[in-house]
Amino acid sequence: MNDRELMSLAREASLNAYVPYSHFSVGAALECIDGSVFTGCNVENAALGSTICAERTACVKAVSEGKRSFRRIAIYADSENWCTPCGACRQFLAEFSPEMEVLCAKAGSRYVSYKLSELLPHTFNY
Ligand code: THU
Repeated sequence: MNDRELMSLAREASLNAYVPYSHFSVGAALECIDGSVFTGCNVENAALGSTICAERTACVKAVSEGKRSFRRIAIYADSENWCTPCGACRQFLAEFSPEMEVLCAKAGSRYVSYKLSELLPHTFNY
C-alpha cells in the first residue's frame, strides 16, 4: 500500500469520528510491519479528559489484535494546519515503534512526513 492509499483510509476513518464537543474529526491508519492496517478515529466524551485521539484508537486496536511493530501511520484532519499527533499520542506510539514514519495531512490531498523520533526525541522509557 502506498502513502496516498494509507492516507485515504485515514480520511475514511475520520468520517466515523464522534466529535460533538470539538467538531474536529481526525482519522488515522496504522500500518504494521506485516502489512496489516488498523484504522481509528477520535472518540470524545462529556468528561473531556476521557476523549481518545484517532492515533491511539488505531494503536489500541492493533495491539489488542497482537500487533506491536509498526511501519507507518497516516493522520488526516480536514484542517488548515498539518494534523500532527499530540504529545500523548507520540509517546503512546513510541512505546512500540519509535522509528516509525508519521504522515500528517491537512485539508486537501497534501501531507508531510516525519520520523516519530524526530517528533518526539528522548521518549520516556524505563
Ligand atoms: N485529536 C486527535 O484525534 N489526534 C490528535 O493528534 C490531536 C487531537 C482529537 C482529540 C479531540 O477529539 C479533537 O481532536 C480536538 O482536540
